[in-house]
Amino acid sequence: MRPLDRPLALIGLMGAGKTSVAQCLGERLAVPVADLDAWVEAEAGLSIAELFDAEGEPSFRRRERRALEQALAGGVRVLACGGGVVLDPIARERLRECHTVWLEVSAAEAARRLGATDVARRPMLQGRDTQNRLSELLTQRGELYRDSADARVVTDGASVEQVADRVLEAIEGHAP
Ligand code: S3P
Repeated sequence: MRPLDRPLALIGLMGAGKTSVAQCLGERLAVPVADLDAWVEAEAGLSIAELFDAEGEPSFRRRERRALEQALAGGVRVLACGGGVVLDPIARERLRECHTVWLEVSAAEAARRLGATDVARRPMLQGRDTQNRLSELLTQRGELYRDSADARVVTDGASVEQVADRVLEAIEGHAP
């Protein structure tokens, strides 16, 4: 398998499968992987839900951007980004240094994939019907995902392995 010439960043809605697909790709390519949510939590010593509670969303977005910068500077090659990473303009700049792939998922499939525990851990999904909220976020962010990505991969109905195959195919054709 051809080595990555640039880091690979996965973006997309909660429930798109970014974490599982990044893990799978990291194993296949034998390169370091990071999940930005886990990075932020480890750095803060707090869960994302606790961070939103204590500091609010803008502070979380700054932490998320810093985690992206640290992961890239630290040599991580496959990144699972949080669903809202594209909201930050500086983070979007950093994503331009990567092969950035949008894992597309419908709100219905994302809601199915996110069980009750996953929903409880995600402050952006609190207090609303999960599918409606995901659908709203997709409408709000669709253009940012599209503009930030070099390639998009459909994930509905596909296994983690199949999505990983599609990501590799998508970036094969992408000129450095
Ligand atoms: C968020 C997505 C989450 C996490 C936080 C906010 C969002 O990451 O960063 O709860 O705004 O879409 P995942 O996409 O990995 O669930």
